[in-house]
Amino acid sequence: MRKVILLRYLPMRLKTFISLVLLSILLISGNTLLANSSDDEDNPALEHETHNDLQRGERFFKGLLPSDRKFQACVSCHTLSKPDTMNWNPSAIDIATKFAGKDFAEFQSAVMEPNGKMMEASHKDFKIEEVDLKKVKLYLDELAVTGPPSEGPTVNQLSLFVLFVILLIFALLDLIFFHKIKYRLVTILILLVSLAFLGKMVAEAAIGLGRVKNYAPDQPIKFSHQVHAGANKIDCKYCHHTAEFSKSAGIPATELCMNCHVLVREGARSGKFEIAKVVEANETNKPVQWIRIHNLPDHVFFSHAQHVGIAKVDCQKCHGQVQEMDIMKQSGDLSMGWCINCHRQTKVNFKDNAYYDNYMKLHDDLKSGKIDTVRAVNIGANDCMRCHY
Ligand code: HEC
Ligand code: HEC
Ligand code: HEC
Ligand code: HEC
Ligand code: HEC
Ligand code: HEC
Repeated sequence: MRKVILLRYLPMRLKTFISLVLLSILLISGNTLLANSSDDEDNPALEHETHNDLQRGERFFKGLLPSDRKFQACVSCHTLSKPDTMNWNPSAIDIATKFAGKDFAEFQSAVMEPNGKMMEASHKDFKIEEVDLKKVKLYLDELAVTGPPSEGPTVNQLSLFVLFVILLIFALLDLIFFHKIKYRLVTILILLVSLAFLGKMVAEAAIGLGRVKNYAPDQPIKFSHQVHAGANKIDCKYCHHTAEFSKSAGIPATELCMNCHVLVREGARSGKFEIAKVVEANETNKPVQWIRIHNLPDHVFFSHAQHVGIAKVDCQKCHGQVQEMDIMKQSGDLSMGWCINCHRQTKVNFKDNAYYDNYMKLHDDLKSGKIDTVRAVNIGANDCMRCHY
């Protein structure tokens, strides 16, 4: 008798549990809806008519209008979300910002009268009514203000995180104490799935924070090392010319870019759009706001001169195959172990290196020429004070 009651009781608990999960999912989707609808409410001044036009502009841009469209949707090239690999076309935000302060006529001629090889190839057979294009401009102007649609609002991330933590705790408690869920496999599955999701979220957050391996933020100009250092074989030190003799390798100013881009005004991949940014930055004297990728904490001393100029370590040893990267990313994790390990493994060649003359005088083996290399660690590269102030 008791056993039967217990059996009935158990599935009830399971049902409660399932409803809890469903409720959480509902809450999350509720959040999304709230986050999306608030965008429209931001703009009470927008008249109903304009609002409709704006929406039609958005649909047109996304290719839902006109129904008999014979050309590719704008959004298929001018993307709204960030792709994983380099998208050489200007993003929707890129063109929106460029034309936000400009009038319709200028926008119209930019879209409809393609200028340059890349534009002619992409803006082909555009049969667009002026009324439609006006709405597109309206939508893009709005986009320039609101920014790209947020990819998974942070509120969502947070609720998801909390949900999985709760699930994890629940599954653990159940596995150890309560045994409310009949099938142990279910509990273990919940446990594993929550663990996997939490791990993934933490890892992604860490990459986003920077100073970790593979950190690769979007840069204001689509500068590609593959195009410059790879395909066009430009020496690293042509642009990072302080690497040899100073602490920092430095990022080149736009004046240096102009040495070539006075002439090269159209790229095979990006057309004129990206190089135009370089030219404009140079003409207006506004430095490009490159986002810094490698960043050691303040208490660590690191000098390129010591490594590149004196020890002759290749850039690639520390930065990876830069000449193959379209988007620059951090290659090592810049941890203490990363530095120390290389100092243990790498041999320094003393021969014909004036920097080590004094050092060689002090050591008989080196003086007599019995050996001419020594591991970096043996000349003190791993002494705490060499790296820490
Ligand atoms: C034509 C100029 C040019 C050449 C050649 C060039 N770079 Fe760069 N480099 C840049 C610019 C501009 C940036 C900043 C934008 C970026 O991070 O992509 C940069 C960024 C970097 C960074 C990241 C800096 C940071 O923010 O932490 C590294 C590392 C780097 N370059 C290494 C190299 C190496 C190695 C080579 C040779 C294989 C090389 N570069 C060749 C212009 C150049
Ligand atoms: C021994 C490893 C090592 C070598 C070799 C090396 N780098 Fe670096 N590089 C680093 C580290 C570490 C940082 C981060 C420095 C910081 O945050 O203070 C860095 C930062 C940079 C930066 C960002 C700007 C700056 O100077 O802080 C650029 C650009 C760069 N390196 C380019 C190069 C180029 C080009 C070469 C080859 C000529 C090279 N590096 C060789 C380790 C190295
Ligand atoms: C030594 C010459 C030289 C220097 C210096 C140089 N570039 Fe370039 N750049 C080129 C060449 C060559 C191309 C390739 C053109 C092509 O695609 O045919 C190019 C292409 C580009 C492209 C378009 C890529 C594509 O294929 O669409 C961009 C953007 C660009 N460079 C930005 C920069 C920036 C920013 C700097 C300064 C940090 C710079 N360049 C410095 C020679 C140079
Ligand atoms: C097949 C891909 C493709 C499609 C579809 C496309 N574009 Fe473009 N668009 C490009 C490329 C590539 C460029 C940059 C070319 C260049 O600068 O040489 C560009 C540039 C632009 C520019 C900037 C022009 C300038 O002078 O800076 C605007 C504005 C623009 N597109 C609007 C649109 C609109 C609106 C639509 C939809 C009706 C659209 N594009 C559809 C590829 C496309
Ligand atoms: C790819 C190998 C490599 C990596 C990675 C590396 N180093 Fe080095 N480092 C060397 C070599 C080789 C020397 C040359 C030994 C010498 O002359 O002292 C050296 C020397 C040094 C010296 C000078 C020691 C002296 O003689 O005064 C310092 C300081 C130093 N490294 C700091 C760092 C720091 C900090 C990092 C990590 C952020 C790092 N290194 C990463 C290879 C490396
Ligand atoms: C070759 C360079 C190098 C040497 C030698 C070195 N460190 Fe470090 N140390 C680093 C770097 C790089 C970091 C930063 C690691 C990070 O940010 O993840 C660091 C971080 C630290 C930290 C802070 C930990 C943290 O998480 O930020 C301490 C404490 C420390 N080191 C102590 C020492 C002591 C003690 C020694 C001598 C036994 C030593 N270090 C020798 C490069 C070095």
